[in-house]
Amino acid sequence: MYIEIEHAKKHFSHPDGSLFVALEDVSLTIKKGEFICLLGQSGCGKTTLLNVIAGFEKLSSGTVKIEGKSVNKASEKNVMIFQNYGLLPWRSVRRNVELGLESGSYTRTERRKIAEDYLKMVNLSDFADRYPCSLSGGQQQRVAIARALAVKPDILFMDEPFGALDAITRGKMQHDLRKIVDREDCTVIFVTHDIDEAIFLADRIVVMTPNPGKIKRIFPVNIYQPRYRHEPDFVELREQILREFFPKSDRRIEYFI
Ligand SMILES: Nc1ncnc2c1ncn2[C@@H]1O[C@H](COP(=O)(O)OP(=O)(O)OP(=O)(O)O)[C@@H](O)[C@H]1O
Ligand SMILES: [Mg+2]
Repeated sequence: MYIEIEHAKKHFSHPDGSLFVALEDVSLTIKKGEFICLLGQSGCGKTTLLNVIAGFEKLSSGTVKIEGKSVNKASEKNVMIFQNYGLLPWRSVRRNVELGLESGSYTRTERRKIAEDYLKMVNLSDFADRYPCSLSGGQQQRVAIARALAVKPDILFMDEPFGALDAITRGKMQHDLRKIVDREDCTVIFVTHDIDEAIFLADRIVVMTPNPGKIKRIFPVNIYQPRYRHEPDFVELREQILREFFPKSDRRIEYFI
């Protein structure tokens, strides 16, 4: 298996000496090329789990392995995309995309060509000479995706990357992202608390619950791409996932559909 997480536990120490268990006995395996969504409410440990797999946080006990090797630091082969884009405001769009290529052995011309290819992929060729401040949120996030993919990462970690976008831009970004990562054959671990986003994107959805953060259930998404939110399989899976969060008798569920 490509990524293997076994009995992962992560606790944080608070200043008063108490321990907070953010992840408890999390075991999960991920295949190469899989698109995994970590889904759950605030505080259930999604970001912590992402950081642990990416090597930004160390486990308190248990193991995380990528291709059989224990993860103990972040790797250049993997990239993280955050909610707030993380672009450098003083660099043009093109030079933001080139950023990750500068530590490699590319010439200036090669870097420029790769950046242009990825900007084309995210439909931003005409914006290459602009600066991030003159782009919309969706455009900035597309630059961040182009920059991440330009280094041909093995694993793309995304922590609620579309959280700040309006519903229409978000829908379009979801569609584009799935198309692009299929083409690039990249493994994606994507954090969200949006059930529809998870069903739209994922090969498997890992539902987590808080206090302590645990995996509650894993749902395979056996729906052909592209997926449509009104189709019976989509609606049925949404219903099943909602039932993980709310008991059948709980009428509040109606408000979330
Ligand atoms: N550095 C830290 N020190 C102490 N507690 C932490 C730390 N980082 C996270 N936690 C706690 O661990 C729990 C899980 O946090 P995490 O950020 O993983 O949640 P999340 O599922 O990503 O939530 P959200 O959807 O709000 O981003 C939370 O209760 C949080 O307060
Ligand atoms: Mg988080």
